[in-house]
Amino acid sequence: MSSVVGFYIPSVSLFGEGAVEEMVKMIKNKGFKRPLIVTDPGIAKIGLSDKVSKLLSNEGLSVSVYDQTQPNPSMKNVKDGLNVLNANICDAVVSIGGGSAHDNAKAIALVATNGGDIQDYEGVNKSQKNSLPLFAINTTAGTASEMTRFTIITHEEKKTKMAIIDNNVTPVVAVNDPATMFGLPPALTAATGMDALTHCVEAFVSTAANPITDACALKGVDLINESLIAAFKNGQDKKARTNMCYAEYLAGMAFNNASLGYVHAIAHQLGGFYHLPHGVCNAVLLPHVQSFNKEDKIANERLAEISIHLGASEKSAEAAIECIHKINRALNMPNNLKDLGVKREDFELLADHAMKDACHATNPIIFKKDEVIAILKQAYEHNSN
Ligand SMILES: NC(=O)c1ccc[n+]([C@@H]2O[C@H](COP(=O)([O-])OP(=O)(O)OC[C@H]3O[C@@H](n4cnc5c(N)ncnc54)[C@H](O)[C@@H]3O)[C@@H](O)[C@H]2O)c1
Ligand SMILES: [Fe+2]
Repeated sequence: MSSVVGFYIPSVSLFGEGAVEEMVKMIKNKGFKRPLIVTDPGIAKIGLSDKVSKLLSNEGLSVSVYDQTQPNPSMKNVKDGLNVLNANICDAVVSIGGGSAHDNAKAIALVATNGGDIQDYEGVNKSQKNSLPLFAINTTAGTASEMTRFTIITHEEKKTKMAIIDNNVTPVVAVNDPATMFGLPPALTAATGMDALTHCVEAFVSTAANPITDACALKGVDLINESLIAAFKNGQDKKARTNMCYAEYLAGMAFNNASLGYVHAIAHQLGGFYHLPHGVCNAVLLPHVQSFNKEDKIANERLAEISIHLGASEKSAEAAIECIHKINRALNMPNNLKDLGVKREDFELLADHAMKDACHATNPIIFKKDEVIAILKQAYEHNSN
């Protein structure tokens, strides 16, 4: 096995107010003429896709729009977006939104150049050609999909989420402008922020962690600890929103290169099976998966390190897990999987699918099926109050 370690991020990332306008100029200067905007109905409703569309049109570009991406985007969303792209002979893609819009845009851009269907690319580096160039404007903090090489698409019939991990889907330019996030409602701020915390924790205990991903993960935890609850309480808090932009990006740098673990492997199944929000699934599962991971000596030490970055007074894996429960309570996260509507009778199937999800491979312990079911049971029965 090769011992070479790769580190993947977009070639350019823009941060701060005005970054969207800057990105539009870059698209024009790179010579693109016919961009496709990929977004969702919520972003269309708040006028953000119209705003970006106007900025692009003002530069003389011919803009097409696909704005029907649903949360946990489906294969149908990919096909429908691709039809708009082909009908208008688009030469670049601009995604606006959270993980769902970016993932859909990545899948559309990948199939546009490689052909076939998106399920052909499930797994790691299955494509041959670069995607159409993707410019990603992030509006949640977040999945970090605006900068990762991951695309998560729901297979409607199988009710599972496919993880497509492919260097060719990395966006060319990632944009994090806090002004796009001031209006993000508290519940979405909480869910997407917990997704970012999960990325930090899973990347830090991952068996593929390295000193670069460690630095990113720990700084991400610091910023989330400092700013997530503040952004949840006051969406207009500019410093908190800016910190969360950097935090989710750092978390993305960490997991894009160290990968994830069983929190995501299970959360993907809950999202695909019950259409539950990704960040909420992660928030509920995170402390429970770590309570199983702490049996691994290295993971135990690493969780203890995280406890300090989460402001615990005692350095231990248990303290880190308690801090996560505490943050969940402060953000009004559901207590357990039962409150989320998960059914006991589905545990077997969910465990089977989670064990096939590519994200589980770097978890500190490769759990057997009965252990995955035990995690589900613990997360189902947990009562924080
Ligand atoms: N590709 C990756 O690297 C990666 C990583 C983690 C998660 N994901 C995937 O990302 C998806 C979840 O993405 P998400 O949590 O960002 O949510 P989302 O993209 O599904 O958006 C949720 C809702 O928030 C609304 N919204 C987004 N930004 C807003 C804003 N600024 N103001 C008001 N409303 C806004 C949207 O319109 C939508 O209704 C899941 O499918 C998950 O599997 C991908
Ligand atoms: Fe995630």
